[in-house]
Amino acid sequence: MANTKRGEWGSKVGFILAASGSAIGLGNIWRFPYITGANGGGVFLIIYLLCVFLIGFPVMLVELSIGRHGKKNPVGAIKKITPNKTWSLVGYLGVITGIGILSYYLVVAGWTIGYFFKSLTYSLNSVKFSSFVANAPTQGIFFIIFLALTAFVVAGGISEGIEKMTKILMPILFLLMVVLIVRSMTLENSMGGLKFFLIPDFSKVSAKTFIYALGQAFFSLSLGMGAMITYGSYLSDEDNLVSSAFYVVFFDTLIAVMAGFIIFPAIGGAPSKSGPGLVFVVLKDIFIKMPLGELVAVLFFALLAIAALTSTVSLLEVPVSYLIDEKGFSRKKAVFLTSIITLFLGIPSLLSLGAFPPLTNVYKGKGFLDIMDFIFGNISLTVGSFLLCLFVIYVWKFKNAEIEVLKGFKNFKKYSYLWKYAISFLAPVAILIVMLYIIITGESLG
Ligand code: PHE
Repeated sequence: MANTKRGEWGSKVGFILAASGSAIGLGNIWRFPYITGANGGGVFLIIYLLCVFLIGFPVMLVELSIGRHGKKNPVGAIKKITPNKTWSLVGYLGVITGIGILSYYLVVAGWTIGYFFKSLTYSLNSVKFSSFVANAPTQGIFFIIFLALTAFVVAGGISEGIEKMTKILMPILFLLMVVLIVRSMTLENSMGGLKFFLIPDFSKVSAKTFIYALGQAFFSLSLGMGAMITYGSYLSDEDNLVSSAFYVVFFDTLIAVMAGFIIFPAIGGAPSKSGPGLVFVVLKDIFIKMPLGELVAVLFFALLAIAALTSTVSLLEVPVSYLIDEKGFSRKKAVFLTSIITLFLGIPSLLSLGAFPPLTNVYKGKGFLDIMDFIFGNISLTVGSFLLCLFVIYVWKFKNAEIEVLKGFKNFKKYSYLWKYAISFLAPVAILIVMLYIIITGESLG
């Protein structure tokens, strides 16, 4: 299809693997378990699943259809539909959000390499999470290593770089997780953790449960900032957008739930504390008490690093493809510039876990990294998804979006009313309620 200069996915499988690679990341394995742990376990899981399938899936289809229609980065794809400059802002929001998320995501990604090396050198035993994350020079080195890896893959171009990598890495990731589930489920007390994760306690539901479930759904599915617009832009007109979206949503959710099956049985009950350190603190303790624990730890942190890399690649791809398509940059130059900006923006997050105490407690006990996560990883994605739904309904018009989906799925007419209902009513109204709640109560971080 036409645009050979930009490249296209070698196959539909290539797209599904790469888009799943974007979706599956620290969001599933690091963020999902600790947010589930902090929001009541089983009941959060149910609400999360509803958010994913009733809101996330339709929004995923919104992004893929805009992307394939525009065959461009988010800003360009929106400009192709309307000359109205105001709507381009949604695209810019995505470009900025990509860099914003990347700046702190790389900090956590750096921990995965740090823990990987510790396990590899049989020194996991001696790691103390709080001292490890407070050590600025080591943190800085791991951050830069991860940024460099990401830049290297993105600079390699779309099909060669991303596709080849995910084709090999995603199946390995899946197999490693199956091994870890078996390991974790055969530990003592695993039932207690399983109960916490699967049996809902409805007394734990509050408005916050919904805010976090919705935000987590967008974050985990890489929605609301144009990552899926960008990936969708490399799909061909023959591809079925509905089944592509479904596969990605399904795999992403499967991996998150699998991560739950690794982490909660290993904890053995409700986590006593559930914050950004959960996976690192709790699992380390369990690994060192386990037979062959160091080996399992090597596998686990390798897996986490792999999952994170396929996500950081997609976060960087958004601003990079914007600079290429709209500003005429070469790919290498675009990668270089965005990496430098990310590096500087990442410094305060990097220093916020003890290295520089004023950044550790910035607002209501939250550190700089948590605040970046809340602003970019939650609010910005939620607002972005909301605006993209409105954009399709009021600007592009539903019938045009429908025509786009019909190109590769002739039977879509039968189901399109469901999509229309979801993106014109369900998703925007749910998001609006959540946003109003945050604005009115100010209850957000936590
Ligand atoms: N979905 C990724 C994860 O779960 C994070 C991400 C968010 C990637 C937004 C791209 C865009 O780790």
